[in-house]
Amino acid sequence: MKISFAEVAEPKAGVLAVLVAEGGTLSGGAQSIDAATGGQIARALENGASFSGKAGQTLVLAAPHDLPAVSHVVLLGVGKVAKIDSAAAADAGGTLMAVLLGLKAKAATVLAGLPEGSKLEPGVFAAQLAYGALLRSYAFDNYKSKAKKADAAVPPASLVVATEGPKHARKQFQSLEAVAEGVFLTRDLVWQPPNLLYPETFVAQVTKELEETGIEIEVLDAKKMKKLGMGALLGVAQGSAFPPAIMIMRWNGGKKDEAPLAVIGKGVTFDSGGLSLKPAASMEDMKWDMGGAGVVSGLMKALAGRKAKVNVIGAIGLVENMPDGNAQRPGDVVTSMSGQTIEVLNTDAEGRLVLADVLWYVKETYKPTHMVDLATLTGAIIVGLGHEYAGLFSNDDKLAKALEVSGKATGEKLWRFPLDDAYDRMLDCDIADMKNIGPRGEAGSITAAQFLKRFVGETKWAHLDIAGTTWSGKDKPTVPKGGTAFGVRLLDDWVAGFEV
Ligand code: BES
Ligand code: MN
Ligand code: ZN
Repeated sequence: MKISFAEVAEPKAGVLAVLVAEGGTLSGGAQSIDAATGGQIARALENGASFSGKAGQTLVLAAPHDLPAVSHVVLLGVGKVAKIDSAAAADAGGTLMAVLLGLKAKAATVLAGLPEGSKLEPGVFAAQLAYGALLRSYAFDNYKSKAKKADAAVPPASLVVATEGPKHARKQFQSLEAVAEGVFLTRDLVWQPPNLLYPETFVAQVTKELEETGIEIEVLDAKKMKKLGMGALLGVAQGSAFPPAIMIMRWNGGKKDEAPLAVIGKGVTFDSGGLSLKPAASMEDMKWDMGGAGVVSGLMKALAGRKAKVNVIGAIGLVENMPDGNAQRPGDVVTSMSGQTIEVLNTDAEGRLVLADVLWYVKETYKPTHMVDLATLTGAIIVGLGHEYAGLFSNDDKLAKALEVSGKATGEKLWRFPLDDAYDRMLDCDIADMKNIGPRGEAGSITAAQFLKRFVGETKWAHLDIAGTTWSGKDKPTVPKGGTAFGVRLLDDWVAGFEV
């Protein structure tokens, strides 16, 4: 799909979209199309109790009068004009793309001038609209045979966005397009089946994707991890036929001696639970237990793509959690790289064991100013927040606030949970420094976060529990169902806050 911006656009073919605000207020573009068609839009609005311009609403008029080149006019609801922010603009673009896919449109033009009263700049609105359309156009069909592919929905070959500020829009869109590339990498990783995506192939794919971006890559294999004393991560990996890997991605966009930000991801390429085996129902979902590692990989691609002026370390712990004659047992005691010992009471609480060693390694090796980890860590976060917000845990109020603000701006929303010594004590253990689970049914997401906190020292740190937001069972405006890449847009925005 070729996306372009123009001051005026006379659609020569295909679908024409115009904006309608809540209450049926037509944008300038909508008014001119209404006039050109002899009042078809106004008439459709009169009768259309189902369309009043609310955000998310659309109405399609086929074969508009006196516009022979246009196959359909799409009325795109944008809601209350004063309320339109970047996230809402992107959502509108995504909703439009869903209609275009349904119409199998080959070409589309959107008149993206807003009705009066918006505080968003025209160029920003246009760029965000295009961004949302691009994000929604994603599909994962790598494993469909050719015949099936042929009837898959294909995005239009061209999308023209008409705006008062095409130059500004183009410039804004350049960075957004780079972020979309990162989002698509993450979604590709999340979608892939666990027989094909495992630590070794994960590293190979991401390495290939990041070739010629300027990102430096380093991989720690099992031998190196053993030498470093990473007994927590290695314990998880020992039941799998696939050896584990830690992948470090380094983007040096900032000043030479400036301490980096660090982003760390849980990359369990399949989580069977290990000997504490999960039930069969929905076990296939655990192919996306590498969602955090997927986000880190996509984020690095996005940052390099838009040449972010900041130093960032991306680190991912890649393992498969399987039952086996050699698998870790409930009751095993392992020693982490930090020296702290852990009694593994449940082999299904494996993500925290993986992150314990990666967090410690990153802290010791790179001395980052901030560490943010992402992990599909607990089912309990889904009980608490469902699939809308991700859980946020942090030892630093300023960092937590910044992440919440980025969440709002990008529509990838976060809800902060407490940390407290009282929760920490729930991990105390008779035989080792800690156990890897708290009491059953009590604050499961918090005790998981408290466990991680024991491996970050004094570093400013935040943990995002993305178990509920990594995969979507339904289409959302900018996210087709499946792998969401939740976290890439959010952390890209957060990183941008450090660029001056
Ligand atoms: N990967 C799971 C968490 C998860 C559950 C992610 C559902 C996505 C959807 C994690 O490794 C896990 O199994 N956590 C256990 C922890 C428990 C044993 C303390 C859980 O949430 O049940
Ligand atoms: Mn598990
Ligand atoms: Zn897991």
